[in-house]
Formats: sequence, structure tokens, C-alpha cells
Amino acid sequence: MNASPSPDEPSAEVPTRAVGLTVDGRDVEVVDDGISLLDALRGPLGVHSVKDGCSPQGQCGCCTVLVDGTPRVACVTPLRRVAGRSVVTLDGLEPEARSRWVDAFVEHGASQCGFCTPGIIVRLDAVRAKGGDVRPGAVDRALAAHLCRCTGWQTIVEAAEDVLSGSTPVEVGPRDLDAAARRATLELGAPQQVGERVVLGAVGFSADTAPADALIAVPVPGSDDWVVGESLVEARRAAGKVQGRRTTVDPVPPLEVPDGDWDLTLRTGWVDAAYVETDSSWCVPGGDPSPAAANGGAFGAKRHSPLPAVARRLADEHGRAVLAQWSREDCSRSAPKRPPVAAGIRSDGTGVIHVVRTEGIAERIRAAAPGLEVVELDVAGPPTSVTLRGAGWAEAVVLVAGVGAPSEVVSVESGRVGDQAGGERVVVRTSEGAVAEASIGADGIRVRAAGGDILDPVVLRSYCIGAAHMAFGWVTSEGVAVDAEGSVLDLTVRSLGVLKAADTPAITVELVPSDRPPVRVSDAVFAAVAAATWRFLGTPPDWPAGLLSNL
Ligand code: FES
Ligand code: FES
Repeated sequence: MNASPSPDEPSAEVPTRAVGLTVDGRDVEVVDDGISLLDALRGPLGVHSVKDGCSPQGQCGCCTVLVDGTPRVACVTPLRRVAGRSVVTLDGLEPEARSRWVDAFVEHGASQCGFCTPGIIVRLDAVRAKGGDVRPGAVDRALAAHLCRCTGWQTIVEAAEDVLSGSTPVEVGPRDLDAAARRATLELGAPQQVGERVVLGAVGFSADTAPADALIAVPVPGSDDWVVGESLVEARRAAGKVQGRRTTVDPVPPLEVPDGDWDLTLRTGWVDAAYVETDSSWCVPGGDPSPAAANGGAFGAKRHSPLPAVARRLADEHGRAVLAQWSREDCSRSAPKRPPVAAGIRSDGTGVIHVVRTEGIAERIRAAAPGLEVVELDVAGPPTSVTLRGAGWAEAVVLVAGVGAPSEVVSVESGRVGDQAGGERVVVRTSEGAVAEASIGADGIRVRAAGGDILDPVVLRSYCIGAAHMAFGWVTSEGVAVDAEGSVLDLTVRSLGVLKAADTPAITVELVPSDRPPVRVSDAVFAAVAAATWRFLGTPPDWPAGLLSNL
């Protein structure tokens, strides 16, 4: 299925001319040769609170602005369509309303990397300006046009309901945002800020902080070459842009289960980290490149991003600052995926696991399932990495929990989290001393997390909710179709299978206070929720297993 038509193709029917409009109350004029509103905002107008997570796909919502008061996705809005009209970005919202949104998002921990947040707030503020709509499901419907990978939606819904209901802001008392940032950084293994600047999308993403005169570099589809231009539009035109598309082919696990007499089997497919801020990095000649991840580490997927090295090389070659950027299609094709597995396991924890050859994966699997023989196989497909959240280790936890084998890492105990009688809970312990418990029931997902000193309950709760959402989605809906030659077929951000707000079960989190030093617990939450979900579903042999109708 083709994505929305791109407005950034030069067209004979669109003569170059100046377009006048109002942006955040300023009268401006921009030369139009067939560019999108997003190109104009982020390019000549320099409005960087409007983000580009997927242009020109129109699917992530990060570029949402108000056109005459109505939310519009700027990357698929031709500039010529807004001639003479009023465009409002996050920066131009009514100051009191913007500040209320910022406070609510900080109070609820509704921003993590913050890349999706400006677009979400702009859309929600349109709801507020029309008198608010707090009927059940109204916020979920507003969020349907957006993608947030980090938060798991629930904290965003809570912040939105606070603002839209006009409730008095909760006095949370003094909060140590440095301690909160320490907890965030610990959970994601990469520097992460917390507070107002995150909500405003002003944490220094590389695509926002490059020198104004930097050349823009983009890869040429199907080759290792890069081309540069004076603007993103020019560079993409020179590269011969390939429109991202979603395939009708279903994702299929690429490995076969080893022969044997097994109590359970499991096959997983190619899974994208689905971070929303595509990789970018800029560098000046002779300088050090900016990091590909400005605020958080894309759940480990950007740890070895090639973009900083590309930016450095091209800056030296051209003798000018260069901003190297991946589009959403580039991320889909080239960003590392979770290594697929196919395993058979017996109730005593012994078995065999096939896994796509990935440096370091065998050690990660054995750390949680020493009884599994690990066989690495070469399979045509996108790159994989052990740096993605819990890669190998979480799969091993799931398998051991699936059969309930004796283990120091994971156990299945009776009674749901929250001391509810009946049912069961999965308990996962990390080598650093974190303990996470998870259970699934008709009222949703329940999590208990013990990660030493909480440092900041808002942030830790937010990261536990995000990890639970990611785990539930991994089991039920995430996957990328790849053809027999190893080419990725799903090239749009929506085709990666990230769960929408409306499809996400309620997630209840209990944090265990402690005087012990803080340790990362969200990976244990991720593994525990994945295992609890798999067992709740009846241990289906292939993932994604499909959504449940009873949660
Ligand atoms: S950048 Fe416009 S919807 Fe994603
Ligand atoms: S906070 Fe939404 S994508 Fe990161």
C-alpha cells in the first residue's frame, strides 16, 4: 500500500513563487517550489519545535500544527495550501495554556525523549480550545494520529485528562529533577533530561541544533553513497527519494524451530526499535560529531549509529558543516533489529535456541537460560544488535517462564501482583539486584518494580509503563516483513506494529521503596510483562500473536 503522496516532489504545475502566511502571529513569506509546510517551518523559518519523525509519510504526528485552528500534519500539507492562513505551532500556543500543558506533562512523566510531545500537545490543545472533550476514549481518539514509542501512552492520557477537565494542577511539592534525570538515564543507559525543556522538544536534537548554513546529507537508496544539498528538500531530490511504503505481506519469523521433543516452542520475527527521532548527526570540519541520540538512547538501537562518522567524513570532505540525516525509510532498512529466535524448550529448562547471528547474543541468552544450547545462524535480513532492550536475555526469560523451569532469574508464582488472589505472576531478577513482577488480568497489566532507591517516582513509574507497553506490543503486534533476499518491506512508521493508545491495556505500577543504590529495573519489567503476556495468551508458538479482545 502506498503512503500519502509527497508534497516535496518538484512539479511542473507548481511555479516557484512567494507564499505569504502567518506563523505564530508573525507575517512571513517563503519561496515555494513545491515544498511542504514542514519544509518551510523547519527550513527557512527555523521553527524547530515542529519535528520530523517520518516525512513525507504523514504517520507519526510529530509535525502537527494548527492551520486556522485545526490540527494538520505539516509534512503532507503543501505550503501553497496555507497561503494567507494562520499557522500555530507549540511555540505560538496561548502562553497560559502552553504552560498548563508543560506542567501536566512534567507532573505525569508524559514525556521521555520528548520528540513526539510538541505535536501531541498541539493536537490536544485544539481539543481544549473547543471546550475539551473528556468523554471516555476521546483522548485515545486524538492520539490516534500520533506515535509515541517511549511512554506507553498512559501518562499522556492522564496529563491530557487533567488539562481537558480543567482540574486544578496537583501540587507535587519540590521535585529533584536532577535525581529524576539520574533515574531516566539509568533506565535507558544513555543521558536523558527531565523537565520543561523535554516537553517543549528543546533538548538539543541534532536535526535542530546543526549550524544554519550546514549542508544536509542523505543516503542514496540502494547504495552506500550519500548526497548533499543546501536543504533537506534539495538533498532528497538529488538522492532520488523512494517513497516509504507498507507491504501487505505479513511479518513471518525467519527461523525454524530446532528438531526435538519440546514442551514449548517459540518463534519471534524481526522487530524494529521504532524510535521516533530518526538518526541524525552534524559535524564541522575537523570537529567532533553531535550524538545521534540527544535525549535517551532509542532503547539501545542508536548505540552504534553510523551517522556521526558519516557527518564527520562529509564535513571534512566538503570543508563545511554537514548534517547527516536518515529518513524513516532509512531507519526501517538500516537501523538494527531485535535478533529473531526459534526455540524448543523442555520443562526442566533444557532445549535448543536458534538465533540470527549477532555479536554477544549467546552470552545474553545463557545468562537467563543456561540450559539452552545456542545455535547462531546466518539469515538474509536487516542488521541486528544485542544492544536493543534486553535482546536475547528477555527471550530466554520468556522461554524459561513459559515452561516454569527452576531458575534464579525468573519464576512463576501464584497470586497476581497487588496481592490479588488467583492467577499468577512472573517474577524476574537481574544480576544487578532489580526485581520486577508482572501479571495480566481482566483489569490489565500489573507491575511491581524494585530497583533500589526510586530517586523519582514519577519518572520511574513512567519508564515502567513504557517498558510494559513495549513488551505487550512485542508479544502481540510488533513485527517487520522482510523478503527472501533480506530486504525490509515495511518502510513506514505505522507498519512496525507499535500499539496505539486505544489498544493498550491499563497498566498499574507499584514501586518498592528502598535505601539500596538505584539499579535499572525497566528491562526486568519488560521481560516480566512479555513472559506474563505469553503465558496469559496460552503460549502461542509464533509472535506477533495478535491482540486480545478481552483486555
Ligand atoms: S513527520 Fe509529519 S507525520 Fe511524521
Ligand atoms: S516521549 Fe514519545 S516518542 Fe519519546
